Amino acid sequence: MTRTVLVTGGAGGIGRAIATAFAKTGDDVVIADIDDVQDAAGSLGVRGVTMDITDDTSIGQALDQVGPVDVLVNNAGLLSVHGRLLELPASDMRQILHTNVYGTFLMIQQVARRMVGQGQPGVIVNLSSIGGRQPTPGMGGYESSKAAVDALTRWAAIELAEHGIRVNAVAPGPVLTPTLAAGMPEGSAARQAWVSRIPLRQLASVEDVAAAVMFLASGNAAHVTGTSLPVDGGQLLT
Ligand SMILES: NC(=O)c1ccc[n+]([C@@H]2O[C@H](COP(=O)([O-])OP(=O)(O)OC[C@H]3O[C@@H](n4cnc5c(N)ncnc54)[C@H](O)[C@@H]3O)[C@@H](O)[C@H]2O)c1
Repeated sequence: MTRTVLVTGGAGGIGRAIATAFAKTGDDVVIADIDDVQDAAGSLGVRGVTMDITDDTSIGQALDQVGPVDVLVNNAGLLSVHGRLLELPASDMRQILHTNVYGTFLMIQQVARRMVGQGQPGVIVNLSSIGGRQPTPGMGGYESSKAAVDALTRWAAIELAEHGIRVNAVAPGPVLTPTLAAGMPEGSAARQAWVSRIPLRQLASVEDVAAAVMFLASGNAAHVTGTSLPVDGGQLLT
């Protein structure tokens, strides 16, 4: 059966890989992003819709265009906020929580309301991070937002189970997106510092993350809900 799969942040590094993986299986994929979404959608051969996940009205209008959603992948997020506790500007903290926590909450709420209203089962997969469980100096703002995404995942899972809606998260370690590759070239000290923390001695590929999302959205995960699956090469073991 063809599913309609909505991937937020689908114009970004991991979002494109997730959209590509679902499209390959014949699903009807829609990527949503805050701007420039049509170019990305065209290059991936999927539908595109403009949406700001922090704006209820924008989400509602986009969902009206998309139609009923079977699988929601809450991938949109900010990663660019860095700073140690004593220095991070309060406005940066507010911004990252606003996008990663409030935006993810709004998406879950609006899509789940429609699924429940239509009496339709569904699947939600959120993009978390192992940083929500393991600290790295200078990344606590981002990590706090992802710990909250794990809590949102459990909250939604326990309340939506009775409606046949499963909710899980994928929690990657560092992922080799084009942005990360540009900022930490092969052989750089920064790249080596991350790799040395990973027992499997390599960064995740975007395809590694997409495969975990595909699994959690599939019938193979029919009895799995409320979990946050690390895709981290064993980094949480250290
Ligand atoms: N890259 C990593 O190493 C890594 C590791 C763990 C988790 N993650 C998570 O994976 C997800 C994707 O990360 P990525 O590396 O592909 O990032 P990215 O910056 O390449 O993509 C994120 C996308 O989200 C979109 N976006 C941001 N704010 C939005 C809003 N308000 N409304 C709609 N779209 C918005 C951006 O425009 C962008 O296209 C994020 O949730 C991130 O926290 C990434």
